[in-house]
Amino acid sequence: MTATVSWPAIAPVPDTPPCAPPARRPDGGWTLTRYADVRAALTEASCRVPVADPGAPGTLSWLRGTVSRFSPPERHPARRSAGIAALAAVDPGELRAEAARLTVAALEAAAGRLDVAGALARRVPVRALASRLGLADADAAVPAVTVVAAAYQPGADAAAAHRADRAVADLVSLAPPDPPEVLANRIGLLVQACDASAGLIGAGARHLLPPPDRDRAAVPGDTTRLLAEVLRLDPPVRGTRRVTAATVRLGGVELPAGTGLLLRFDAANRDPAVFAEPDMVRPDRAVPALTFGAGHRGCPGQRHALALAIGVLDVLRERCRRAPTPVRYEPHPLLRVPARLEVVAR
Ligand code: HEM
Repeated sequence: MTATVSWPAIAPVPDTPPCAPPARRPDGGWTLTRYADVRAALTEASCRVPVADPGAPGTLSWLRGTVSRFSPPERHPARRSAGIAALAAVDPGELRAEAARLTVAALEAAAGRLDVAGALARRVPVRALASRLGLADADAAVPAVTVVAAAYQPGADAAAAHRADRAVADLVSLAPPDPPEVLANRIGLLVQACDASAGLIGAGARHLLPPPDRDRAAVPGDTTRLLAEVLRLDPPVRGTRRVTAATVRLGGVELPAGTGLLLRFDAANRDPAVFAEPDMVRPDRAVPALTFGAGHRGCPGQRHALALAIGVLDVLRERCRRAPTPVRYEPHPLLRVPARLEVVAR
């Protein structure tokens, strides 16, 4: 049974496309926005992730060319398994406790007012994961992972890529010595976790903390159940890309090999054909949002991401409300990571 929570609907981010049949873009690629179309593209073997070519050992291009995320189909299973094996040693319950501990420490050091974006969103998840993944100095890993994450997706500028080369070398020196594929996919877990987890903590703080107006009640409900709806309605990862490797029919449209696809989770997560009253927060919906992807490329860190966010958000919900300052976001086409989000002690 679903229950409507007594707080306002979460409106789409203004540039979210409407949920509609596949649409051709001026660059010749297609944008998919309906739930069924996005899910089909995620699970269809002919829709491939854009592949990264390998580069010199220990550089950003080496990392991108060796992680599962940008691997061709024939290399993906072994590399994904290497990441999953590293993650299997990390207990989500411990991550949650560590995230809560780090959040309490940050709040105590902040003396009443804290910027979640600067003090917690990227720092806590990466710090907690890095120590459990065996990096020699988890504090030093945080800035290095942040620099790599900024240049990890396709299209980073040359200066960002140059900074990331040095940061990858730092991470290699901090990580346990392992064969290259194991090493890269261990570091890849941290990089994948960084911005997406920061975005989820930002979205949770924005939507689940009591607003600045003291007269309004705190948002009711258990963080774990509410977070599923936050992930659906304000996804930190708003979409992903694919390229067709053969002619494929999606949403009634025949797409030739080599067509670029933009899969919009933010639009598909509000598809009225799947989610009744799509803008309303309704915990315990029967169908999962697409924010963690789907199929054999779907996010293997989902439980860990949720544990980290819940650890942070439970502490914030207990102790803080949002400050009356606007929430600002970093400019990015597909990620929604806060640049400034202040909270004050209650
Ligand atoms: C809220 C947080 C997160 C979100 C929304 C998220 C979302 C996603 C999505 C959508 C994909 C698939 C991309 C695609 O198919 O094109 C993905 C892949 C991946 N994620 Fe996450 N992720 C999050 C956190 C994490 C964390 C905490 C970890 C590690 C601890 C992680 C590790 C990975 C890895 C390794 C992949 C690549 C999987 C593969 O190549 O098969 N993610 N994630």
